[in-house]
Amino acid sequence: MRILIVGNGGREHALLWKLKLDAPHAEFFATQPNGGMAPLCQGVEIPATDKEALADWATKNKIDLTVVGPEGPLAEGIVDRFQELDLPIFGPTQAAASIESSKAYAKDLMQKASIPTARHRTFSEQTAAEKWVHELGAPIVVKASGLAAGKGAVVCMTVEAALEAIRSMMGDMAFGEAGQEIIIEDFMEGEEISVFAVCDGKDFVLLPPSQDHKRAGEGDTGLNTGGMGAYAPVSIATSEVMEEAATKVIAPTLEALAADGAPFRGLLYAGLMKTEDGLKVVEFNCRFGDPETQVVLPLMKSSLLDLLVAVAQGRSVTNIVVETHSGCAVATVLASGGYPGSYAKGKPIYLPTELDSDDLVLFHAGTAGTADALVTSGGRVLAVTAVAKTFAEAAEASRAGASQIGFEGAFYRADIGWRERGRVDLPPEGETV
Ligand code: GLY
Repeated sequence: MRILIVGNGGREHALLWKLKLDAPHAEFFATQPNGGMAPLCQGVEIPATDKEALADWATKNKIDLTVVGPEGPLAEGIVDRFQELDLPIFGPTQAAASIESSKAYAKDLMQKASIPTARHRTFSEQTAAEKWVHELGAPIVVKASGLAAGKGAVVCMTVEAALEAIRSMMGDMAFGEAGQEIIIEDFMEGEEISVFAVCDGKDFVLLPPSQDHKRAGEGDTGLNTGGMGAYAPVSIATSEVMEEAATKVIAPTLEALAADGAPFRGLLYAGLMKTEDGLKVVEFNCRFGDPETQVVLPLMKSSLLDLLVAVAQGRSVTNIVVETHSGCAVATVLASGGYPGSYAKGKPIYLPTELDSDDLVLFHAGTAGTADALVTSGGRVLAVTAVAKTFAEAAEASRAGASQIGFEGAFYRADIGWRERGRVDLPPEGETV
């Protein structure tokens, strides 16, 4: 089997790693692979965004399955193009990807299908948006409707902060066209859970729940990033909560998308807030989360490949059982100094060889070069994922692994999973994994 991964970040490294475990004899290819992916696959020097060139390359190279990591190519219609050429591909069509690429569309869909979410209004005119903020007061959330690399949602604790967010998005075009239409919605009190559903257009199966940490600083302070770490499973996502996610959110969303002529085949990521009134949707994404994938996939015992192939071939996922390992996974992200603002690239990375073990996996994101001459090439550089019997052990191993990696300006959060730490027991003294 010949498998192409589109994308080259930490999520795509995790997808490649898991699919290689599922199919050790398959041939793997990836677009412009990072320094950790390159030794595991053959590189394809075509950007992830060039759907025409990729479709042409996949045809010529007889690719049996293409897996798309990032939202950009999905929103640009890579799946539609591959399907026109009968090339099997995992991911939603451009129309179905609107669930992420247009927050306004997602909110409308939820409203029509009575899917629980914060009360909202959509604006394409700055003065009207400002007027509404004055009427509603704070706290309040301002969101760019289009794709904004995970940074387009601003939680505003004051009216001034909300007005500034509106000005920045609509006036200063901080997110370009993506911020010319905005959503203003009620602030929701609660804790977020990331739920991944592998969907075949009608039915779905759930992967283990996870939680990420979007802020740059410990205690969830500082600027929003693409994600500084994650853990799975999440103890507050009990089987009842996951049942609620399945019946009140995922199932009606798939039904509403299908009724809209946009059946969703791919990975539907529901960012859910666990509030006093039950689960509410914060956002939908049309692809695997990053860095959540780096903790969800290491917990998956059964084949991910079987699921992706079934969806790509237009088959149902209902007969495929997802088996997971017991235990927990924690990922700590190492970032370049200055991230999410500007940062330097090309810094040599020191990786201790003893980091390679069955319970610790290093997922590369912004790295380039070879193992003996690895350098930084992005804001998020690496994720150290540890798997252990308990949350506390996994968190400790992940943090200890991160502390052994060095590059100039490197920083990481030592508190990944801090909410979980407060509610799950520490392992009995002397217990080993
Ligand atoms: N971890 C957030 C995201 O993938 O959008």
